[in-house]
Amino acid sequence: MSKRVRKAVFPAAGLGTRFLPATKVIPKEMLALVDKPIIQYGVEEAIASGIEHIIIITGRGKGAMEDHFDHSFELDAMLEKRGKRDLLAVSRNAASLARISYARQKEPLGLGHAVLCAKELVGDEPFAVILPDDVIDAQPPCLKQLIGVFEEKGGSVLATMTIEGPGISAYGVLAGSQDRKNPRIYNCTGMVEKPKLEDAPSKQAIIGRYVLSPRVFELLEQTKPGAGGEIQLTDGIKALLKEEKVFGYTFAGKRYDAGDKFGMLQATVEFALKRPEFGERFRSYLKGLNL
Ligand code: G1P
Repeated sequence: MSKRVRKAVFPAAGLGTRFLPATKVIPKEMLALVDKPIIQYGVEEAIASGIEHIIIITGRGKGAMEDHFDHSFELDAMLEKRGKRDLLAVSRNAASLARISYARQKEPLGLGHAVLCAKELVGDEPFAVILPDDVIDAQPPCLKQLIGVFEEKGGSVLATMTIEGPGISAYGVLAGSQDRKNPRIYNCTGMVEKPKLEDAPSKQAIIGRYVLSPRVFELLEQTKPGAGGEIQLTDGIKALLKEEKVFGYTFAGKRYDAGDKFGMLQATVEFALKRPEFGERFRSYLKGLNL
C-alpha cells in the first residue's frame, strides 16, 4: 500500500438547497467566489498540497463542473483570435490544473455514501477528502498541514475548529483530549455527527478536510443511516477509530462556509480585499459606505 497521499475526493453531488434560488440550475460548487468557482479553490488547495489525482463525486445536473475543468474549444479559439492572452491562460488553467476523474452518486444517501462512491478510484491507499463548500484561506494550505500530521503520526487526520455555543450542532464533533506535546493535535476517542449542544462531547468541530485510511471504505459499506437518515462519514470514521488511530488537527488559517449565503458574503468581502487588482479600490468603497 502506498503511504503517500496522492488522491483527493471531492463530494459534490449535493443539491445545494441552502443557496436557492441560485442553485436551482447551477451546481453550488460552481458559484463564484469573487471570480472563481468555489470548487476550484479546493482543487488548487489539493494541488498545492501535493495531490496528483482529483476524484469528484457528482450527481444529476452537475455537468457544469466537468465542462469547467475541460477545454472550451470555442472560448479558447475566440480568445486566441482576439489576442486576449491573459484570459486564455485563465481559461486554459482550469482545464489543465489536475488529473480529474468523476464518479456518480446516483442517490442522495449522505456524505459517507458519497465518499464510498470513490472506493474503486482510490484503491488501497490513504486519501484526502475535501468538502468544496468549506473554503479555507491558509498558508501552508490546510490539506498540506493535515498531510504533515498524517506523515508524522501515521493515522487518519481530520481538520477541526473550536465552535462555541449552539452552532456546534451543525458539525461532526470529536471526543478525546488535546495532545500534550502539540496542542493543535487532538487524540480522538469518539465522534458524533450533529449533536445537540448538551450532547456535544467537546467544542472540536470537524471541518471539511480529511486524510483517511482506505479501511474506512469497508467500514462505510457497513455503516447504517445516522443523523438526518443519511450514511454519515463521521459514523464511518467512528468505526475506524476502533481499529486505527484518528487525530483531530486545529489547522492554522481561516475557514468560510461558502455553501451558506452569509458565509459566502464574508468570503467574498475578505477575498476581494486581498486581490491586488482591486483590493484597495474595494477597501475605499467599503469605507465610503455609511454603515
Ligand atoms: C459535513 C460533515 C460534518 C462536518 C461538516 C463540515 O456536514 O457531515 O461532520 O462537520 O461537513 O463542514 P454538512 O455541512 O455537509 O451537513
